Amino acid sequence: MSNSFMTIQRFILEAEKKHPKATGELSALLSDLSLAAKVISLEVNKAGLVDILGYTGDHNIHGEKVKKLDIFSNEMMIHAMNHGGHLAVMASEEEEGIIRIPERHHLGKYVLLFDPLDGSSNIDANVSVGTIFSIYKRISPDGTPGTISDCLQPGHMQVVAGYIVYGSSTIMVYTAGDGVHGFTLDPAFGEFLLSHKDIKIPTKAKIYSINEGNYKYWRPGLKKYIKYLQDADDRGREPYSARYIGSMVADIHRNLLYGGIFIYPDDRRNPNGKLRLLYECNPMAFLIEQAGGRAIDGRGNKILDLKPTSLHQRVPIYIGSKEAVDMVEKFISEEEI
Ligand code: AHG
Ligand code: MN
Ligand code: MN
Repeated sequence: MSNSFMTIQRFILEAEKKHPKATGELSALLSDLSLAAKVISLEVNKAGLVDILGYTGDHNIHGEKVKKLDIFSNEMMIHAMNHGGHLAVMASEEEEGIIRIPERHHLGKYVLLFDPLDGSSNIDANVSVGTIFSIYKRISPDGTPGTISDCLQPGHMQVVAGYIVYGSSTIMVYTAGDGVHGFTLDPAFGEFLLSHKDIKIPTKAKIYSINEGNYKYWRPGLKKYIKYLQDADDRGREPYSARYIGSMVADIHRNLLYGGIFIYPDDRRNPNGKLRLLYECNPMAFLIEQAGGRAIDGRGNKILDLKPTSLHQRVPIYIGSKEAVDMVEKFISEEEI
């Protein structure tokens, strides 16, 4: 069958059939997530109309409170996901503590971590934003409320990770440890249709993505590496292109398709970088590794091997095409301070 009518639901069900022990719970979780994504996508698309349609202050024309999109997306994720009976606990970039499953709902065996709206400072300029998610199996006993320890597992324990980019079209990309697959939302049918099967990130990068405004604060090895990328070499290598959107999800999506490296380093101002291990770095690292790339913290560790110590921990990240990450690792490890 051609790709054109493969919905995300069918694709997930068929992938699960290959695993005789699968219970269908992960399929149900991913289905719930794709529904939340559709609702957030609709709301993001309406963002530019807020002024025109008479929304003023924090109330709309119906006198209802208008929520900021990141708060809206956070609540939508929680409400779409907390009653399916598959989760033990959740955590979100927008919530200080863990999110418990209300007592009236069934407890399941999975744990969901998410960044409800990544890149939200870009919304008013119509720039792509996204939702990032990460799923683990619980380690606390079945049938009891999930705990913070369920949320603090190292990234290599993830069973599913993915993101949704709300861009020129809405695309959902996920991995369940069996390759990386992308589905584009057909706005007419309201269905995510398979558009990118088994995505592999090109081994060689052409693009680097980093906030160069922070150059002054970088470590010497990183400064040298970026200068190296901007130069040609005597074996005919062309200089890299710089591309930086400022929405990690959109920057990573482009680099995944075209080949590239995304860096949010530690520097003199931000000793642990900016991005969050649980909601941003781990899910992206799982996806990129599944696509054949690498993700490291620049301190000798794979992102996926880091043992989280707190829910909102930040880590430096160097992620993307294998050769580019190998190269930056070399520059950093050889730097003279
Ligand atoms: P969020 O909107 O979830 O807070 O994340 C914003 C992040 C990330 O998407 C992006 O890569 C990074 O902030 C950009 O940071 P700088 O503006 O410091 O470059
Ligand atoms: Mn984010
Ligand atoms: Mn966010």
